[in-house]
Amino acid sequence: MSFRQFAFGLTASFGIAWLAIVIVPFFMMRHIKPVAFDETADGKEGVYHPKRTGRVINGAEVYAANGCYHCHSQLIRPTYAGNDLGRPDWAGLKADEERGDTRRESNIFDYSGEKFAQIGQSRLGPDLSNVGRRVEKLYVKDGGDPKAWLLSHLYDPRANPERPTSKCPSYRFLFDTVEIEGQTPNDAVAITKDGEAVVPGNQALALVDYLLSLKRDDTVPASMSHLPPAQKGAPEKAAAPAAAPKG
Ligand code: HEC
Repeated sequence: MSFRQFAFGLTASFGIAWLAIVIVPFFMMRHIKPVAFDETADGKEGVYHPKRTGRVINGAEVYAANGCYHCHSQLIRPTYAGNDLGRPDWAGLKADEERGDTRRESNIFDYSGEKFAQIGQSRLGPDLSNVGRRVEKLYVKDGGDPKAWLLSHLYDPRANPERPTSKCPSYRFLFDTVEIEGQTPNDAVAITKDGEAVVPGNQALALVDYLLSLKRDDTVPASMSHLPPAQKGAPEKAAAPAAAPKG
């Protein structure tokens, strides 16, 4: 092999990978055009408007800084790449009281408003794409407060009687200890031995707001779904996305 061939081969091996993995997706996802519903496939018309509220940016920073992505994914894979829709309530609720089956794959709009799409590195813990929904609808019982559930989980995951052996680390440093003057603060997650109240700091509050905003189960146009054609028909039945609409 001549040096020229070697140099060409080397450049081609790295260059093609770089083009396919970095450059092409960058241009495909830079300006995302809105996707429209289709009367026949979706049973309704109009443009898909993903909605999200809460302190998404600040919360995402705390999430990243504390390495939650090491153990938690935020990616419901397209159906051709894995059966994430089959995991218990990861992709949405299988039986939502009002909306029925809301499960769907992740799509590019799910990460809007965030600097990075924190799809995660491993799945030691459950996927968090819909953790806001799960906490509100499944974990909090009898009119309990979802925010309080999450704060308590962050402070001490094993304090939850249903999760005595949780492997989620506790993030106590996101909380402050304050003296109780008069009434115990409303958002106190614990009382210390010395009678002081443990209250969430700013970062904990932003993080919980972010986690509660994770409800990626709205109905999306069937054109964004990777489900087999037979399952696509019913939009409320796990229609999904993932295709980066070109633009
Ligand atoms: C070392 C791995 C690890 C890290 C890092 C980690 N977690 Fe977890 N997490 C887990 C495991 C395992 C579970 C499942 C056990 C349980 O339910 O507590 C879990 C459960 C959870 C749950 C409950 C989800 C559900 O639907 O049951 C939430 C919320 C959560 N983690 C949030 C976080 C946040 C926020 C961070 C970053 C501040 C984080 N975790 C970091 C391992 C981790």
